[in-house]
Amino acid sequence: MPTRHDLRSKALHNDAHAIFARLREHDPVHRGRLGRREVYFVTRYADVETVLKSPDAFVKDPTNTALGPAGQRALRIPKLAESFMNGMITSDDPMHRRLRKLVARAFTPKTVAALAPSIEAKTAQLCDAIVNEGSVELIDALALPLPVHVITELVGVPASDRRRFQGWVHDVMRNFSPWNMPFILRGLWSFQRYIRELAARKRAAPTDDLLSALALVEDEGDRLSTDELVAMAFLLLSAGHETTVSLIANGTLALAEHPERWEELREHPERLPAAIEELLRYDGPTLGTEFYYAKHDTQLGGAQLPAGAAIMPMVLSANRDPAVFDDPDALLLDRTPNPHLAFGMGVHYCVGAPLARLEAKIAFTALLQRFEPPELAVERARIRYRDALFLHRLDRLPLRMRRRPSPSARG
Ligand code: HEM
Repeated sequence: MPTRHDLRSKALHNDAHAIFARLREHDPVHRGRLGRREVYFVTRYADVETVLKSPDAFVKDPTNTALGPAGQRALRIPKLAESFMNGMITSDDPMHRRLRKLVARAFTPKTVAALAPSIEAKTAQLCDAIVNEGSVELIDALALPLPVHVITELVGVPASDRRRFQGWVHDVMRNFSPWNMPFILRGLWSFQRYIRELAARKRAAPTDDLLSALALVEDEGDRLSTDELVAMAFLLLSAGHETTVSLIANGTLALAEHPERWEELREHPERLPAAIEELLRYDGPTLGTEFYYAKHDTQLGGAQLPAGAAIMPMVLSANRDPAVFDDPDALLLDRTPNPHLAFGMGVHYCVGAPLARLEAKIAFTALLQRFEPPELAVERARIRYRDALFLHRLDRLPLRMRRRPSPSARG
């Protein structure tokens, strides 16, 4: 009997590229699993694109399928979390369009640009603390604290609460397994109670941040209810956080394995934006997007899917599809065109893409300018990914980092 891959298996996460290469070739719409629930893994670029671009055929809310109220989510959400885990990313039009319009009014290009000085200052502070010639765990040192700082500042979580916040996110992001459930529930409960209180304070006395803007935003008389506001804050804080950790960590690992590219980028910083797109393609932050569901019985990539079937479009796999990318397993920093799907596509395209790109640009610029190409501090085989559902997240990234001589010392 052929293997049925489970989204929670360590093997899938640690060997994702090789497994996806086999699936793309032999079993492009794979009948995989999430525990006992069936989940179809869509692995070819063309089929991933079809799912993401066909909101009439593939929906986010399983009760919008032909199964109606009997439609079941792939991930069973604890009752207490239903009101705030069912946000924009798991809704369809007209609800989705309405929420997206409201968030777009509050989260503008100006909001993102205004964060640049704070991202630069935090990056400098974190890089200063990296010990010269020492072994550093890059996720703890930079890749995690930077996005946490940025997303909490953006949303408006006071600095004094950020440590608590990080603890809850850590709990919530654990795998949905029975033994993790007490931690997940504890994290969800504390998180939603905190956001609810914070949102009430922002409504009463708005400050200069996204949660206040969302509390006040209006579109032709339409406003977010308190539950919707909490759901939006939860989505932004969770979606905008671990993904960016992985962009910085996976990207640094890829560059550490190609030291000549490190030198090239340092000498040509104007090449960095294209290089970041290639890092997103080459070893992106997520295996797939949130779940989609087949609206009716349908055919996809030669497979027959029943109405209500849970689907994960595997963007990590699509981004290495040789039908679209020449030499897909090579890291080509000037690859053009580079139509990668790391931020998704279509109506649910990532709201935070400009912010993630800005953070990555600032973080990589600092690393390239301050350090020689890093070396892995452990054997490559000991670099492992977490078994974290959607995410393609390194567990640890131990590096040896050597500071470059300061410009004056270099003459
Ligand atoms: C490198 C970092 C990031 C990656 C790779 C990423 C990836 C994605 C992907 C693939 C989707 C589409 C999901 C789907 O179709 O189900 C998405 C949606 C979304 N992302 Fe991101 N994301 C990143 C950073 C961020 C940041 C920084 C924020 C917030 C500030 C954010 C907020 C969102 C939101 C709110 C959605 C839902 C959009 C909708 O349903 O209309 N993301 N992201």
